[in-house]
Amino acid sequence: MDYSIALVPGDGIGPEVIAPATEVLDTVGDRYGHGFHYVELVAGGKAIDSSGEPLPRETLEAAKQCDALLLGAVGGPQWETLPGHLRPERALLGLRSGLGVFANLRPVALLPQLKDACPIKDEVLRESNPQGKPHFDLLIVRELTGGIYFGERGREDAGKRAFDTETYSWEEIERVLRIGYTAAGLRRKRLCVVDKANVLESSRLWREVASAVAQEYPGIETSYLYVDNCAMQLIRAPGQFDVIVTSNLFGDILSDEASVLTGSIGMLPSASLSSIAPGSKGPMGMYEPIHGSAPDIAGRDLANPLGTILSAAMLLRYSFNLEHEAAAVEAAVQAVLDEGLRTQDIARRSALPGTEKVVGTQAMGEAVCKALANG
Ligand code: IPM
Ligand code: MG
Repeated sequence: MDYSIALVPGDGIGPEVIAPATEVLDTVGDRYGHGFHYVELVAGGKAIDSSGEPLPRETLEAAKQCDALLLGAVGGPQWETLPGHLRPERALLGLRSGLGVFANLRPVALLPQLKDACPIKDEVLRESNPQGKPHFDLLIVRELTGGIYFGERGREDAGKRAFDTETYSWEEIERVLRIGYTAAGLRRKRLCVVDKANVLESSRLWREVASAVAQEYPGIETSYLYVDNCAMQLIRAPGQFDVIVTSNLFGDILSDEASVLTGSIGMLPSASLSSIAPGSKGPMGMYEPIHGSAPDIAGRDLANPLGTILSAAMLLRYSFNLEHEAAAVEAAVQAVLDEGLRTQDIARRSALPGTEKVVGTQAMGEAVCKALANG
């Protein structure tokens, strides 16, 4: 089958991590007989430089025509002094809301090969894991097109007072919760709603909606945590979580925190969707690693491409319903880690000589392609 994929390499390390991800997709195409056609689009800092705006209308329109979108990263110091509506990050927000992808899935699991890169002690990991293993595997479902990211904001008092507004409708909360419940149904059937209902009115609405929606999913255990407690529980006992559903801002913060537990933020993929629907071709989705554009290491072949490669695996799974191919990409990533290949962010300083080999972005991508072709 033929599929079209919009590519937004973006800024900083974005193009460097997108290149290996498309090579991996091409390897999947060759091996399993699919045609992936790329439509390269400009957004973020590059778009500001070439057209004066972070998300040109043609980019959004062209993205909407594709079956999925894969994005590297946007942003960099040269655009940091621009006014908010002209910053590269606006491109991300515009794509997310323009494509209507309101649920952002961020899986956070500790791979056995990277156990030593996890900053949490073995016994702490074991204590919170139901099987007593030094392991965790959780999924953050972050609301992506509402809340304080999109609420009213502005300045008053001649610029000396500023405000941003957290606002959510029943419907916005309900639809992301339903994605969370669907995901939990395919996992360990536990869902934790994270909010700040002891202080925020919008969080109290989250709880109201959750307790209503929970009735429809009796097979799933629903629990509630305040976000400050959740931040603590994530490093105290990550094994207790299955699916976490939370607002845009809380999800942003908690996913960076959780990513460190896997060894590096460079490992984490994400999928932004409007539904999880089994079928022949899934919904349009936007796929991106959760890391940023890392201008400090850009252009030096140092970036970890695995978060983007794993995002491409999520793309195959959710937008194209190619589960077998998605699993093959994930297995290839594990295979290169088994071989001891590490980018610098996940390399152990104390590794025994010969057990780990530090490689660059390109070599890591090539190794994944090779594992996939031979696997
Ligand atoms: C993320 C990023 C973005 C966000 C930034 C770059 C706007 O941190 O995808 O987590 O806050 O959503
Ligand atoms: Mg973030």
